[in-house]
Amino acid sequence: MQLRLSAAGRVLVTGGAGYIGSHTVLQLLLEGCSVVVVDNLDNSSEVAVQRVAELAGEFRKNLTFHKIDIRDKEALEEVFASTKFDAVIHFAGLKAVGESVQKPLLYYKNNLIGTITLLEVMAVHRCKKLVFSSSATVYGWPKDLPCTEESSLSAMNPYGRTKLMIEDICRDMHHADSEWKIMLLRYFNPVGAHPSGDIGEDPRGIPNNLMPLVQQVAVGRRPALTVFGNDYLTKDGTGVRDYIHVVDLAEGHIAALKKLFEDPKIGCEVYNLGTGKGTSVLEMVAAFEKASGKKIPLVFAGRRPGDAEVLFASTSKAEKELNWKAKYGIEEMCRDQWNWASKNPWGYESPDTANGGVTK
Ligand code: NAD
Ligand code: UD1
Repeated sequence: MQLRLSAAGRVLVTGGAGYIGSHTVLQLLLEGCSVVVVDNLDNSSEVAVQRVAELAGEFRKNLTFHKIDIRDKEALEEVFASTKFDAVIHFAGLKAVGESVQKPLLYYKNNLIGTITLLEVMAVHRCKKLVFSSSATVYGWPKDLPCTEESSLSAMNPYGRTKLMIEDICRDMHHADSEWKIMLLRYFNPVGAHPSGDIGEDPRGIPNNLMPLVQQVAVGRRPALTVFGNDYLTKDGTGVRDYIHVVDLAEGHIAALKKLFEDPKIGCEVYNLGTGKGTSVLEMVAAFEKASGKKIPLVFAGRRPGDAEVLFASTSKAEKELNWKAKYGIEEMCRDQWNWASKNPWGYESPDTANGGVTK
């Protein structure tokens, strides 16, 4: 692979054992970066880090893992004391919308205190370059499409509010001290897996998102997919989203890091990472059935509270300023999702260990 980061650098990745984090860590290693991952493994497995190391080949020597909760300031201090980081990519956070409604304090405590602790430690160690995982959820139910970085923002639940609050905290940090250079990346709907099929999404507990559920139906872990709403004003009545291959998303982080390293004018910037294309639930299911050869039984139910009808990104800002554009379409997303699922029907675990073998 071509080295596109002029200064490869030492990068701390919080939440690097997770779905998007693991794919991004692999890309960073292949770019020649030294990567330190901190993750408390709340929603991930150390096996993901081991698989990334295997996929990285000779670059695996540049990967270190610490099982740390980012709210543990002392532990984080030790990590920063042992390595001088050029930048931090901050994925660590809780992301289940329904759970955030049930347990708001858990989300505020984890996502906000975690981020504030990280920023404090970064400031002490004079590491002031940050890439943060925001979400298209900040657009709420958008009035105009596609969503541009200037579209109005609204949070529909505590999870979304943590993203909006952290974006504001980052803007305030840059305002108070212009040495802070921050990229706020608003991801649309990441799906798929690394083409090797060795790393992919393996959420703990019952998944919330469409494709992990489709995948579990395909491997026989669930009897059917519940489709939330078929009375939307869309082509087939089901919700429309901007699905993006996780490898494209990982590449988007490389592009963001490159910008942070190379553009002295960067302040606190927002970028959408999506494909700009909308796909309905039924279209996504059909693409997955084609890729896998498996029939996905459907059960139609009412709309899920808080769901937008249609959401897709304007990608022009990222294309122009980050020189990044998603390469893959839904066929490749479903192909790679199925490759991962069929090679790892129980994710990183086995039927016996996966959530006690019960509901996972
Ligand atoms: P993930 O759950 O797979 O990864 C998050 C990782 O953070 C997990 O490995 C988890 O164990 C770790 N973590 C959580 N709290 C922590 C803490 N206090 N200390 C240390 N580690 C902690 O999720 P993901 O899909 O890879 O998402 C990564 C980021 O991107 C999250 O911030 C999420 O909100 C955001 N995001 C995800 C999506 C999506 O659909 N997957 C969409 C938009 C934004
Ligand atoms: C959801 C979250 C969003 C979060 C994002 C990534 C909600 C309301 N929104 O977005 O805040 O940033 O995940 O974690 O939870 N669908 C079904 N059946 C299912 C699951 C989903 O029909 O079992 C449909 C949904 O109604 C939607 C589409 O599939 O139309 C995609 O859903 P999902 O993967 O959960 O993503 P979002 O709703 O976009």
